[in-house]
Amino acid sequence: MTNAVSIKNLRKTYKTGVEALKGVDLEIAEGDFFALLGPNGAGKSTIISILTSLTTKSSGEVKIFGNSLDTDRDKTKTYIGVVPQEFNFNIFEKVIDIITVQAGYYGIPRAQAIKDAEPILKELGLWEKKDSPSQQLSGGMKRRLMIARALIHKPKLLILDEPTAGVDIEMRRGMWDFLRRMNAEGTTIILTTHYLEEAEELCRTVAIINKGEVKLHETMHKLLEANGKEKLENIYVDIIQDSNNKTI
Ligand SMILES: Nc1ncnc2c1ncn2[C@@H]1O[C@H](COP(=O)(O)OP(=O)(O)O)[C@@H](O)[C@H]1O
Ligand SMILES: [Mg+2]
Repeated sequence: MTNAVSIKNLRKTYKTGVEALKGVDLEIAEGDFFALLGPNGAGKSTIISILTSLTTKSSGEVKIFGNSLDTDRDKTKTYIGVVPQEFNFNIFEKVIDIITVQAGYYGIPRAQAIKDAEPILKELGLWEKKDSPSQQLSGGMKRRLMIARALIHKPKLLILDEPTAGVDIEMRRGMWDFLRRMNAEGTTIILTTHYLEEAEELCRTVAIINKGEVKLHETMHKLLEANGKEKLENIYVDIIQDSNNKTI
């Protein structure tokens, strides 16, 4: 079976000289719910920027559903929906326009986009706000708007970069249910989060990266079993501390 994502020896050095990725290997199966974990500066957002073609890699090989970033970039883009770490929409633009403009990038006409947006916005509790400028939305609503926008072209792979940062627990649980349903319906999901109980609750596979290197890549079940049903948070802290000590 083709993997949703295949990353081989991926390296990224920014123009500033920062070596953000130092030879990352990751395979993410189609249908997986994958946690990409690591402290600030580990390289999570850099990996996501490369997968979504916002940043170019320095070297290595990346395939999305078997399509190489080097030779089939446009195709890879159609497979991916991304919820970036930072809000990045025009605050004066209406919710529905933010969605239809995004749809336009994928060649979906406005009328069709409005039709497609309705169930997504309803499910995410945003339909009543469709004619409001995005600046009038609460923080949690803005997060959900980013999810709605990422889904308008029906991507097979949804990537969420800290989607629940600053979102209250009730709304976070609502998002979890939504993401679980998406995954159950076949969407592959990659999630980065600092809430480790969230990753433990949702994800089937986990990778922990630190300083641009993969320190662990394992199924959640096996990882928890191997550590005597220790909480993911404790396992994570041990791995990060261990890898920090080794590189000092
Ligand atoms: N656009 C950029 N230019 C220069 N350095 C960057 C840029 N983006 C990220 N970095 C650096 O690359 C490293 C990895 O950052 P990032 O991928 O954002 O980590 P994470 O998302 O895991 O917090 C950090 O040292 C960060 O400062
Ligand atoms: Mg980040």
